[in-house]
Amino acid sequence: MLQSVIVVLMLLPCVCGKNPAIQVTLNDKGLQYGKHAGTDWIQEKLERVTFPDITGDVLGFIHYTLTGTRVKQCDLPEPSVQFYPDAKGIKTSISGLNIALTGGWTTHCGIIHDGGSFDMAVFSVDVASVVELGNDTNGHLSVTSVKCDAQVGGVDVQFHGGASWIFKPFVKYFKDRISSEIQMNICSNVKKIIENLEQYLQATNVSLDLDRVLTFDFPLTGSPDVNVSSLHLGFKGEFYNTKTHVEPPFEAQPFTMPDQQGYMLSVGLSEFTLNSASYALYSAGVFQAVINDSMIPPGSPVHLNTSLMGPFVPELPKMFPGLMMNLQVYAREVPVFSFQPDAVKLSFQGAVKAFAIQRNGTQTPLFKLNVDSEFSSKVWIAGGRVKASISMDNLTLTLAGSEVGTVKIDALESLVKMGVKIALVKLNNQLSEGIVLPRMKWAQLVNSVLKVEQGFIALASDAQVLLTDGGFD
Ligand SMILES: *[C@@H]1O[C@H](CO)[C@@H](O)[C@H](O)[C@H]1NC(C)=O
Ligand SMILES: *[C@@H]1O[C@H](CO)[C@@H](O)[C@H](O)[C@H]1NC(C)=O
Ligand SMILES: *[C@@H]1O[C@H](CO)[C@@H](O)[C@H](O)[C@H]1NC(C)=O
Ligand SMILES: *[C@@H]1O[C@H](CO)[C@@H](O)[C@H](O)[C@H]1NC(C)=O
Ligand SMILES: *[C@@H]1O[C@H](CO)[C@@H](O)[C@H](O)[C@H]1NC(C)=O
Ligand SMILES: *[C@@H]1O[C@H](CO)[C@@H](O)[C@H](O)[C@H]1NC(C)=O
Ligand SMILES: *[C@@H]1O[C@H](CO)[C@@H](O)[C@H](O)[C@H]1NC(C)=O
Repeated sequence: MLQSVIVVLMLLPCVCGKNPAIQVTLNDKGLQYGKHAGTDWIQEKLERVTFPDITGDVLGFIHYTLTGTRVKQCDLPEPSVQFYPDAKGIKTSISGLNIALTGGWTTHCGIIHDGGSFDMAVFSVDVASVVELGNDTNGHLSVTSVKCDAQVGGVDVQFHGGASWIFKPFVKYFKDRISSEIQMNICSNVKKIIENLEQYLQATNVSLDLDRVLTFDFPLTGSPDVNVSSLHLGFKGEFYNTKTHVEPPFEAQPFTMPDQQGYMLSVGLSEFTLNSASYALYSAGVFQAVINDSMIPPGSPVHLNTSLMGPFVPELPKMFPGLMMNLQVYAREVPVFSFQPDAVKLSFQGAVKAFAIQRNGTQTPLFKLNVDSEFSSKVWIAGGRVKASISMDNLTLTLAGSEVGTVKIDALESLVKMGVKIALVKLNNQLSEGIVLPRMKWAQLVNSVLKVEQGFIALASDAQVLLTDGGFD
């Protein structure tokens, strides 16, 4: 069955990178959580903002400079953040922000210089920003500030020191000027933050060399999709042979992820991703191994010794008595994964070549078997770990050639099946321990559920931000 699937896949024209093999959806729940975590971060950032000097004239002849302005206190109200389909992006607004600033002032009027400190209260600040999301030609996510409005409700200034009493009457002239300076400053700062984020995104790698054999490509396959309840991204998600970078003869099929608004985010992984890895490994010649007797457990009833092969190859002990044997095992075709509801199926078509090792080291070919096998695997998440169990659905041996007469296929098949079953018990023991879910420097997944669907695996999850220093600046 799977063989015909491969044939069909091979006949499809390769319109490469058309369908995303990995899809990521950020739901409103995730956006709101991110906002909550981000607010603390912004509050902390604001307290470290330094303002450029403000200079100007009062009544045309007194020149003043406000310098070293910094935030003394800042009450950041919870902003509102929402998906904004009109601009294909995200809209953020804050209203009623109050900031207490402090700094120094200097003036000069002709040759008279003076200076002191000041306290300023900026109150009822409203900021609204719209950020548009897009993709660049290299498949990076891009962010652009498309709108920023800042309104300052009011400003109060108090000057201390020097001949500051002289300025008291002029404070009303400062206010409007400072108010508009601050208004401009807010939006230029917002734009700078977004430009920094954009630079960071442009610098991220959309291709990763995992080792000498595998490269993983994950550029965006198109522009992000935004509607009122979610942001949706599609990534290529394809493995390549690092050396050859050859496209596999099959392509990613489209799939639609279930809407999971109850979770912060969902990730869908197409079977294509796994199969591209399989193809890359196969073309790099990874799926082959030599089995010799030292790999067979000492207690095993069968050993790779020609004298003990009588029950399976009756002529062998007479033709080549008392020689050790080697088995060359390899994949005849690319192993194919197929995701089906609640099961991952693997079809493996391999071959085994048996050799006798002569006393002078020469390897004499004995016989060749084809092994066609199918496995099923269940995958789930428990206790924050991805767990799996594998069972053998089918295994058939066929004789592909013999230099040593009759080979009793049925007896060998039972033997191989038993060997595979024993190996699977060991493997399942390891798999039941599970693999910890991938964790990033700044976030980890919690409350995750995983479901295998037709053609893809869907992971729905909440996230927990581990905010540390750093960020995008
Ligand atoms: C976004 O991706 C699509 C599909 O790859 C591409 O056609 C388009 O040119 C990209 N947008 C930009 C601005 O490069
Ligand atoms: C991207 O990959 C290149 C080559 O593998 C590497 O030199 C560079 O440091 C990577 N950049 C980032 C931001 O990881
Ligand atoms: C938003 O898009 C997602 C898929 O991208 C879809 O499942 C959901 O129903 C859409 N929501 C609305 C309100 O259109
Ligand atoms: C079996 O193979 C292993 C690994 O290739 C090798 O270290 C060992 O010497 C071999 N044993 C025999 C008996 O050939
Ligand atoms: C193979 O098995 C026979 C019979 O048990 C034994 O006499 C012989 O020493 C074995 N050969 C090797 C190389 O171990
Ligand atoms: C090794 O021994 C085998 C069997 O005795 C013989 O046929 C073969 O020619 C020998 N090979 C070498 C390189 O001596
Ligand atoms: C196992 O494979 C054989 C030969 O391809 C086939 O006839 C049989 O139906 C398969 N059995 C199962 C359980 O898939």
